[in-house]
Amino acid sequence: MKLLVTGGAGFIGSNFVLYMLKQHPEYQIINVDALTYAGNLENLKLVENNKNHTFVKADITDAKAMEELIGQEVDIVVNFAAESHVDRSILEPDIFVKTNVLGTQVLLDAARKHNIKKFVQISTDEVYGTLGETGLFSETTPLAPNSPYSASKAGGDLLVRAYHETFGLPINITRCSNNYGPFQFPEKLIPLMISKTLADEQLPVYGDGLNIRDWLYVEDHCSAIDLVIHEGRNGEVYNIGGNNERTNLQIVKTILVQLGKPESLITHVKDRPGHDRRYGIDPTKTMTELGWKPKHSFETGIEKTIRWYLDNKDWWTRIQTGAYLDYFVKQYGERLGDQE
Ligand code: NAD
Ligand code: TYD
Repeated sequence: MKLLVTGGAGFIGSNFVLYMLKQHPEYQIINVDALTYAGNLENLKLVENNKNHTFVKADITDAKAMEELIGQEVDIVVNFAAESHVDRSILEPDIFVKTNVLGTQVLLDAARKHNIKKFVQISTDEVYGTLGETGLFSETTPLAPNSPYSASKAGGDLLVRAYHETFGLPINITRCSNNYGPFQFPEKLIPLMISKTLADEQLPVYGDGLNIRDWLYVEDHCSAIDLVIHEGRNGEVYNIGGNNERTNLQIVKTILVQLGKPESLITHVKDRPGHDRRYGIDPTKTMTELGWKPKHSFETGIEKTIRWYLDNKDWWTRIQTGAYLDYFVKQYGERLGDQE
């Protein structure tokens, strides 16, 4: 089996590549990533010399490059590549539309041309918008995105659906809740708060801190995607989540307790515009149809994650200083020649 994984140098994509090469050592993975600020080849050090893993630096909006790659007898495309940070999407919506909508369409065209076996779109629960105090997102909840990020992801999802309905392209769409775990870029809530706590810096909590997210340990997201690839029914959407709703303040306080730091570090700052109040996923379909079950409770997952950030301080300080950007040139510059 040959997989083209896009965005495989980012947080979830790199965890997925490592997971798949462990679960299916015989699979071949072509990992294509544009290495934006969020792409970090240091995440892939463990598989650098694995002959079944090939890294290619390219942009998913580059039609010629995508066609060439998918034309290399690729069976399955798994599209993680995206601009992924809501706060950045408020400052700069255009790049979100370009990568998340146009990039998806470019991949779909190439996938269609080469008759691949399945296109798996990695989407997010944020396309459903926000919940009140009760209820959960199901696969039939209407899309009602509120940020430029979630709107661009919804746009990508709708194109994937349309290529299935119009051209018969075999597809699945997964919509997962907030992920956390190793290799998450320290601009997102959990790694940001861990790194700031360790530096005894103020912890910027947006608004009243009572917004709720439904947290899933990244490896459990990867195991669900593995099942969707192999068992997902053609054309179906699968919601992924572990029933771990927490307020942002609960998350920050958990980190403070585990690191033995005082709550006085918490600072409430101006709220994010259009800030979704609550996300909560109903994963029943994925659990019953595909037999998926998360392995980590929030308590075990957050403990593992904090341990990982303590043990891998180098990884995130190199991001903070920008040193991680040199790694590509050092590691791949010569090998890739003029592609760089
Ligand atoms: P990330 O920002 O850590 O990684 C994104 C990766 O995509 C980076 O390596 C980046 O270099 C690459 N990329 C960006 N633009 C590209 C382009 N034009 N061409 C090729 N590569 C490009 O994001 P993440 O948190 O790992 O999220 C991965 C996917 O999962 C996204 O599609 C996101 O919408 C979805 N998702 C994320 C979460 C979460 O909590 N992080 C939850 C549900 C779904
Ligand atoms: P984030 O990790 O950006 O994920 P998303 O917005 O996609 O859910 O944020 C998670 C929650 O944490 C969200 O409600 C916004 C909040 N937040 C803060 O309160 N302070 C911060 O510095 C950040 C980055 C997020």
